[in-house]
Amino acid sequence: MDRNLALNLVRVTEAASIGAAKYMGRGDKNAADQAGVDGMRKMFQTMSIEGVVVIGEGEMDEAPMLYIGEVVGAGGQGASKVDIAVDPVDGTTSVAKGLPNAIAVVAMAPRGCLLNAPDMYMDKIAVGPKVAGKVHIDAPIHENLRITAESLNKSITDLTVTMLDRPRHEDIIRQCREAGARIKLFRDGDVAAAMATCFDHTGVDIMLGIGGAPEGVIAAAALKCLGGEFQGKLVPYTDEERQRCIKMGASIEKVYSMEDLVKGNEVYFAATGISDGELLKGVVYTGNNTAKTHSVVMRAETGTIRFVEAIHRLNKKPKYAY
Ligand code: FBP
Repeated sequence: MDRNLALNLVRVTEAASIGAAKYMGRGDKNAADQAGVDGMRKMFQTMSIEGVVVIGEGEMDEAPMLYIGEVVGAGGQGASKVDIAVDPVDGTTSVAKGLPNAIAVVAMAPRGCLLNAPDMYMDKIAVGPKVAGKVHIDAPIHENLRITAESLNKSITDLTVTMLDRPRHEDIIRQCREAGARIKLFRDGDVAAAMATCFDHTGVDIMLGIGGAPEGVIAAAALKCLGGEFQGKLVPYTDEERQRCIKMGASIEKVYSMEDLVKGNEVYFAATGISDGELLKGVVYTGNNTAKTHSVVMRAETGTIRFVEAIHRLNKKPKYAY
């Protein structure tokens, strides 16, 4: 893949964020999501790719755009054949309620390299580069916390575990407390939370708990670029979900490594803040029809992490009708 495609991916997430952020606090998560989808979809069409959406807004009959299997991009001769994983708004409820931590995200890899994960829950563990290779999702929680603390040269009482604030995490929370760790719960957006484990300044050391499987693939792409580690196990709650796993050839027992979720090292990733988070600032409308965005763009091959702050003169982009 042409490395400049990575920079184009930032345009894609910027467009989604600018669209979705218009709906911040308006109580309408579907409208926020739709605006994110529209922005993202239009910008994909300017890229020289023949992309197949592997992780998207749902099956074709559920989503009119960015559905699984949709072909996006300008195509044409020389266009890279790629897999695309999108979440135009990770944290739709956060946007609707004006809460933090919502981002627009895209991951891209050569065709066949991103796992088409079933739309169900996934148990996850994510850690940063200093802890990568040392934890295991099947190990007891106190053991993973001990190893994380040791690798970071911290005492367990200084360790911060982050997870979604959900009743299903009661037992994990209890175990973390018994081990003596600090806990930071968040309302929504576990892609951003997984990424936070890779940046010292966030103070977040490890992410645990159950979130969406599609978000797991996207987080794995991000952590591959960041040199961290992500592991996941599918958690079907219903018979229908168990059947779907079987149909898709997915395994319930399997520990999905980063390599299972995202093959190889040719992985590009971009995210733009919609509302303020630990890593990315949200969209700010700065008057005179301008908007400021804050993004990160990365490639696993080189490990370069670029933060991009952009000022958009929206009246000069009528084609994208933000
Ligand atoms: P949406 O933007 O689709 O609402 O996802 C937000 C999110 O918090 C994800 O980041 C996370 O993986 C998932 O929801 C958790 O699912 P649930 O809200 O059902 O616990």
